Amino acid sequence: MKRSMTREKIFEELRLRLHDTVPEAELWYKSEIIVQINELKEKRNALILGHNYMEPVLYQSVPDFVGDSLELSRQAAQTDKDIIVFCGVRFMAETAKILSPQKTVLVPSAKAGCSLADGITAQDVRWLRKKYPGAPVVAYVNTTAEVKAEADICCTSANASAIVQSLLSETIIFVPDEYMARNIAAETGKHVVLASLHPADEGETQLDVQLVGWHARCEVHEKFTVADLHAIRKQFPDVVIAAHPECSPEVIAEVDFSGSTTAMIRYVENTTAPRYLLLTECSMADNIVAANPGKEMLRLCSVRCPHMNEITLEDTLESLLRTRYVVDVPEPVRSRAYEAVRRMLTIEPAPPSDRSLSVEKPPSSSHSR
Ligand code: 13P
Ligand code: SF4
Repeated sequence: MKRSMTREKIFEELRLRLHDTVPEAELWYKSEIIVQINELKEKRNALILGHNYMEPVLYQSVPDFVGDSLELSRQAAQTDKDIIVFCGVRFMAETAKILSPQKTVLVPSAKAGCSLADGITAQDVRWLRKKYPGAPVVAYVNTTAEVKAEADICCTSANASAIVQSLLSETIIFVPDEYMARNIAAETGKHVVLASLHPADEGETQLDVQLVGWHARCEVHEKFTVADLHAIRKQFPDVVIAAHPECSPEVIAEVDFSGSTTAMIRYVENTTAPRYLLLTECSMADNIVAANPGKEMLRLCSVRCPHMNEITLEDTLESLLRTRYVVDVPEPVRSRAYEAVRRMLTIEPAPPSDRSLSVEKPPSSSHSR
């Protein structure tokens, strides 16, 4: 959406895309906030990045780029703007700060955390290194800067398998997402154990273990079950289901496609099915329908990420007005974390594997507005 648009024009454009999803009164109210954000964005030479989980009006309006965590990290590393406002959760804004330390990085809510990032500490990683000496540590990007600083390389859901496969070591430590570790193991044929549930004296030698996982989970994706899937398929036998790899391996084994948030969007856009269901944060289905009115999405979703939902247009405006909440990553943590993130950015994600339909194009990078 152009930065200079009037409230009326913004409202018309939003109504065209979101008439099925958001009441008109809300669109009109939010159009005024969007005008103010656009003015401030110009005045303060700011870039707004929006994660794919943002609520539909925010997602459709103020971000200069929308995308998954990998794509948004790349945008954060490239920008020449003075300020980056990260409409996403804290670990994403921290990654932007790690990559662009000279910029002011803001996150609109101080409450936008993540159960995965809260699920492991830097001390835990040091303990793992002691337990598996010489094994490289891959940290999922959903971690704090302190944890990234202890890692050899980071990954996101878009490149996790490619990163693990790029490491030549017999044993690799992958933290903190248990399900992601199990899903990577299934995809790469590696044997996985969870370190915290696996006492050192159990008699398993290090050679038996190819992937060492941790026990954190995404509080959103862990809620989807195989029983839910069966019930949905019974009611809608022609439904095509895509799931985020933070879901359990049992769920992933039953779906038609698994990939990062952007990979799921591209999958729906580039395939033809009577109807789709996404097992991920609910906003994504609304955002896909807004951009692709011809697609039928089953909106049976009731699972919201409470952290992503903290990010509102109102708080984004306050963020630019009051320069809050400033994200800082002190040295030497930042430069150590930078090495792990930088290494990740040198590795291209492998195209996600498609299990049912033919995908016409590979997932493209973040799109600008
Ligand atoms: P993506 O990297 O796929 O955008 O996912 C981030 C996330 O937090 C999913 O829950
Ligand atoms: Fe974290 Fe899960 Fe929310 Fe993603 S959906 S930000 S992994 S809590």
